[in-house]
Amino acid sequence: MPDAVQRSILMLVAGAKGAIGSTLSVAAALLARRPELVRPYLTTSGRFGDLGEGVTVAGWDVSPHCLTSSLRVHGVVPETLWGDLAHDLEGVDLRPAPGPGVTLGRQVEHIAADIRALREDHPEAAPVLVDLLPSAPGHRLDPGATLDEILAAPAASAPPDLAYALAALRCGVPVVNFTPNAIALPAVVAAAEAAGIPLAGRDGKTGQTYFKVVLASALKARQLYVDGWYSLNILGNADGANLMDPACAAGKLANKTQLLDEVLGYRVGERYGQGSHKVHIDYYPPRGDAKEAWDVIDFQGLFGLPMSMRVNLQGRDSILAAPMAMDLARWVAAARRAGLGGLRPELAFFFKKPEGPQAPVSFQAQLARLEAFGAHIDEALAVCG
Ligand SMILES: NC(=O)c1ccc[n+]([C@@H]2O[C@H](COP(=O)([O-])OP(=O)(O)OC[C@H]3O[C@@H](n4cnc5c(N)ncnc54)[C@H](O)[C@@H]3O)[C@@H](O)[C@H]2O)c1
Repeated sequence: MPDAVQRSILMLVAGAKGAIGSTLSVAAALLARRPELVRPYLTTSGRFGDLGEGVTVAGWDVSPHCLTSSLRVHGVVPETLWGDLAHDLEGVDLRPAPGPGVTLGRQVEHIAADIRALREDHPEAAPVLVDLLPSAPGHRLDPGATLDEILAAPAASAPPDLAYALAALRCGVPVVNFTPNAIALPAVVAAAEAAGIPLAGRDGKTGQTYFKVVLASALKARQLYVDGWYSLNILGNADGANLMDPACAAGKLANKTQLLDEVLGYRVGERYGQGSHKVHIDYYPPRGDAKEAWDVIDFQGLFGLPMSMRVNLQGRDSILAAPMAMDLARWVAAARRAGLGGLRPELAFFFKKPEGPQAPVSFQAQLARLEAFGAHIDEALAVCG
């Protein structure tokens, strides 16, 4: 059981200088100095009392830029909000990522050594590994591989996320996988279960897909049959540029597509056939992180008569994502303290591709499961005293 005196969260962020990661560092600094700008936007404020609400960010990145330069490059958070915090931000402990030309095991050793050092520097905080690495092509590992076989494999045979997750598990640290990358291999999940370490993933459900699940759940609840759904989103950040590579986009597109049939409980296109559900992502540089999404939803009601709805979302990718990452870190830290390890399907609310047995799919079921999980954790923590 982790140390009971830990009263804040240490977010160990893989990809800490990215659009979401750098926004997180500003949010953590502002949470301490101007909590009114952050606290109201977290869904876990006031929850998990003993865990405290402070957040310290540390982590890794391959980028040679300093954090404040990264913030300027991403252009997500106006400098008027973080200019006064530049000193704090330059003090964030960000470390170089391990090199690619070695085995996964060597990468794990490198990252685990960093995790141990960071924990020693922050004994007051409950550590959580938060994976914010770029979307990557799938791994080339045998799904049945043992942990030892995975560690002996060349690092290039898996997305870099896997080494971070394995290092976290080795150090007893829970993992949040916000990326579409599939790292919950059976051997990884078994190790997390055996050690009582929570794993939550995958692919944060931040904007368009969040509202898609809400709307699909609402249509389903009223027996309004969806004949077709066209989703387009344009974004101009590094994530958008990366997703122009079909190999990197494949996982994300599949996650955004599959959940509709799962929520509705039938295959969209019964009336018009294949092509009735489309999901497109397009890189459009002028928008930067301020993405725009369109959904056209064709559905039918009584007598099979057709109706249609349009949704136009103008959202900010990292502004939607960063508070979710902070909430998720608090959920898994609380679950860890309550001794609830392995994949946590109760956190399906936060993900496009929720992992774990019988993960709920509708908005209502996901929210109910999350609330029940909160009550379960509270009970377990009360018993632990
Ligand atoms: N923004 C959203 O709403 C949203 C929603 C769901 C999922 N996601 C996912 O979250 C992830 C992060 O998104 P983002 O917009 O911050 O991406 P980003 O490209 O801005 O940031 C990724 C960061 O990871 C760093 N990096 C690359 N390889 C690394 C390695 N081996 N070790 C350490 N750092 C490394 C990069 O230098 C970069 O700073 C992506 O996978 C994205 O698909 C984002």
